[in-house]
Amino acid sequence: MISRRGVIKNCLASLVAVKVPTSAFSANNVSRYRIIAQKSEHQFYEGANLSDLFLYNGSSPGPLIVENKGNILEVEFLNLLDEPSSIHWHGIKNLNDMDGVPGLTQAPVEPGETFTYRFPLNDAGTFWYHSHSQAWNQVARGLCGPLIVLEDESSMSDRDLIIAVDDWLLDENEQIHTASLGSLHDWSHGGRLGNFLTINGKSAPEIKIPKSGKVHLRFLNFANARVMQFELNDRLPMRIVALDGAPCDPFMRQRLTLAPAQRVDVQIDDVSFVRELFEVSTGEEYGAATFVPNEVNQKPNALPRFVLPTNNMLKMDNAEVINIHMQGGAMGNLSSAIFEGEQKSLRELARSEKKLWAFNGEIGGYDLTLAEVDLGKTVVLRVWNDTRWQHGMHLHGHHFWVKSKEFGDEANLVLRDTYLMQPGEHAELVFEANNPGSWLFHCHMLEHHVSGMGGIITVG
Ligand code: C2O
Ligand code: CU
Repeated sequence: MISRRGVIKNCLASLVAVKVPTSAFSANNVSRYRIIAQKSEHQFYEGANLSDLFLYNGSSPGPLIVENKGNILEVEFLNLLDEPSSIHWHGIKNLNDMDGVPGLTQAPVEPGETFTYRFPLNDAGTFWYHSHSQAWNQVARGLCGPLIVLEDESSMSDRDLIIAVDDWLLDENEQIHTASLGSLHDWSHGGRLGNFLTINGKSAPEIKIPKSGKVHLRFLNFANARVMQFELNDRLPMRIVALDGAPCDPFMRQRLTLAPAQRVDVQIDDVSFVRELFEVSTGEEYGAATFVPNEVNQKPNALPRFVLPTNNMLKMDNAEVINIHMQGGAMGNLSSAIFEGEQKSLRELARSEKKLWAFNGEIGGYDLTLAEVDLGKTVVLRVWNDTRWQHGMHLHGHHFWVKSKEFGDEANLVLRDTYLMQPGEHAELVFEANNPGSWLFHCHMLEHHVSGMGGIITVG
């Protein structure tokens, strides 16, 4: 179990990812941390052989960062890998040069180098951070961790729990399967799918919950590509109160769906019936975690506070509509696409460039500009998933409104930063372009992103 209070008590390597003591001269709302990306030996379960992973401060997942809204987060990031890296703060409406996308918003952090991220935490919610350099490789090897921003509580309560899920592909030696990283099959199909599910870094852990009263659960999906689905024992209903860190009009569901990178915050009024968590996306009930009742100090209704976003009304007159036609992948209808200015057959692109996916007939990358919009404009991304695959579409720097069908056919208008699209689905992602800079829009199935499913929206 990762520590729920303050920072990183479960670090394997003792010196790392600690909150750096704040100097007497700094403003008192600056919180300083030090995060080191390094090769680390990790044991997936007792008795298993050690795996070489890439971890933040030696811990899987990376250290839990809990901060208050209004604080400035300062993270001194040291890259001790043999390859460039960077950190993206997923879901934070960040300053563009702190967004952590090498080659777009910053230079890659080279081996041995340090980069200091410094940005205000303007919104409370459930966020995460992960490598944005060769993410399909570095996130698969463990470079990700939770970031929780509290509205006004002084610390995370015992009624406020993190359920960070990941899936790993292990080989017959109980070690991470590295030979399959970069597999063209995965890239052209549903991405890299694991065979070993972890919750907060452990397989089928016991999670302490209060004996009675209310509880708040923060689900986060750190997997490269697997869409997870969760149910509680007896299909106990859960009240969904926030998505991707953004509060929503609460609604009840028995089953949660989380695409990679998505977060779902739920509340349960009477925790005393909650015993087990199942992952059910494969059609079978897999026992993902067991809940163990535990004495807690907080009052039965001491839950984190959430403030609903007030500016639900976007000015739609003169909204700028951007059509994005997604094509490609296995069994798709894309026969050729433009890559580096040249039209090429998809077969050729797959073989020589490992490119497989396109937006509007063009293989995506940091040089593909999808739109340039003026600051303050309302933007409608009219996205058509014309492929045979699901895609979790993520916009950097903004949240967008979407009529979501992720929790059943009845559409809910919600604010998200990542939206799971079904094959054939048309969706409109609507946002106010209020954050200047160059922002990525990409599929968060990391194998799809690297092989072409991403482009840039420039604001300002
Ligand atoms: Cu989690 Cu490009 O992001
Ligand atoms: Cu995708």
